[in-house]
Amino acid sequence: MSTPHQVNVALGERSYPIHIGAGLLAQAGALIAPLIKGSRALVIADATVAKHHGTTLTASLNSAGIAHALVTFPAGEPSKSLSTADLLWQACAANHIDRSGAIIAFGGGVSGDLAGFVAAAWMRGINFIQIPTTLLAMVDSSVGGKTGVNSAAGKNLIGAFKQPRCVVIDPRLVSTMDGREYRAGLAEVLKYGVIKDPNFFAWQEAHAEALATGDPTAVAYAVAESCRIKAWYVGEDETEQGVRAHLNYGHTFGHALERETKYTRYLHGEAVGIGMRMAANLAQRLGLLKDATLVARQHALLQRYQLPLAHTTDHKSALAETLTKHCLLDKKVAAGRMRFVLPTAMGMVETHEIIDGAAVASAFASAFE
Ligand SMILES: NC(=O)c1ccc[n+]([C@@H]2O[C@H](COP(=O)([O-])OP(=O)(O)OC[C@H]3O[C@@H](n4cnc5c(N)ncnc54)[C@H](O)[C@@H]3O)[C@@H](O)[C@H]2O)c1
Repeated sequence: MSTPHQVNVALGERSYPIHIGAGLLAQAGALIAPLIKGSRALVIADATVAKHHGTTLTASLNSAGIAHALVTFPAGEPSKSLSTADLLWQACAANHIDRSGAIIAFGGGVSGDLAGFVAAAWMRGINFIQIPTTLLAMVDSSVGGKTGVNSAAGKNLIGAFKQPRCVVIDPRLVSTMDGREYRAGLAEVLKYGVIKDPNFFAWQEAHAEALATGDPTAVAYAVAESCRIKAWYVGEDETEQGVRAHLNYGHTFGHALERETKYTRYLHGEAVGIGMRMAANLAQRLGLLKDATLVARQHALLQRYQLPLAHTTDHKSALAETLTKHCLLDKKVAAGRMRFVLPTAMGMVETHEIIDGAAVASAFASAFE
């Protein structure tokens, strides 16, 4: 079956397709059936997604003859836990999911990370399919095989690489998303242009309002381009030993901001958006940024996507120092060297190890108001 956009993730024998097309949820069963060859499937969905779109998915699986059960968990980040995973493993047992069975993740990044981890560990790994339903999950978390749960030790520290057998994306599903959640996903779309593809960035500049308002044709194209770029990084460097780290542009700054505000003030994409401004400022400060227009173009696009541009605080210098300390404690820091992905031109980034804490603190302060 051909679909309007198809992207391949090239990983040798574990390569897989990403199918992208408006209305594709109704064809998910037909796309999945050849991959799981008559075995049983467990659909793991968050309750909100199941309420909006569960009927379409189950009808599609039924018409393709896929025997399945659907289990839900409460929507939201707190469900990304070992205790929810344990309940889902019990559901695997109750629904007779054996070594030939499959798990289908249906939802946003929380569903994908959680269900992928359940699939990676159940019977030491069974078939896994991703059907992402948020913009963030479509352009980022459903592709690349990172799965896991949070724990008292920290966010995303327990997990496994588990590549799906395929990803089925119906961009129309974003129409039921909360507007703020949707726009936060646009920060990751913008990121792909800055790190890898000046043409994609220029296309976004030409279609910013269409994307911000969720125009279906624009969304489908942006998802396909984002998946193409993410798939390239995953194919080059599956386990993030090198170039895949470029996908973390804006994330080290953003994570520090999220942690400091206890994960309540910003959605992840919003923090990454502010973080990208800080990263571009640091690149400029260190004389690495050759393209003087990048800072203004990135700022303008974030603004047109209606994303927050700065963090409001009454304690700019004290907060900049605290956040710099957070960066030193980041799991990606080696021996006091903070690692940042910094732009050198539109479509080009480099990873730099920075020991100059004052420059990092000033970069933080550059996006405070
Ligand atoms: N594995 C990776 O590579 C990777 C990358 C980035 C982020 N993540 C993880 O992704 C998670 C965040 O993902 P998220 O932003 O998708 O959050 P999410 O899965 O919690 O979804 C956000 C909200 O949107 C609702 N929702 C989802 N789809 C909907 C739809 N179509 N219509 C209406 N409501 C819908 C959900 O019920 C939820 O309330 C985090 O846990 C993060 O760590 C993983």
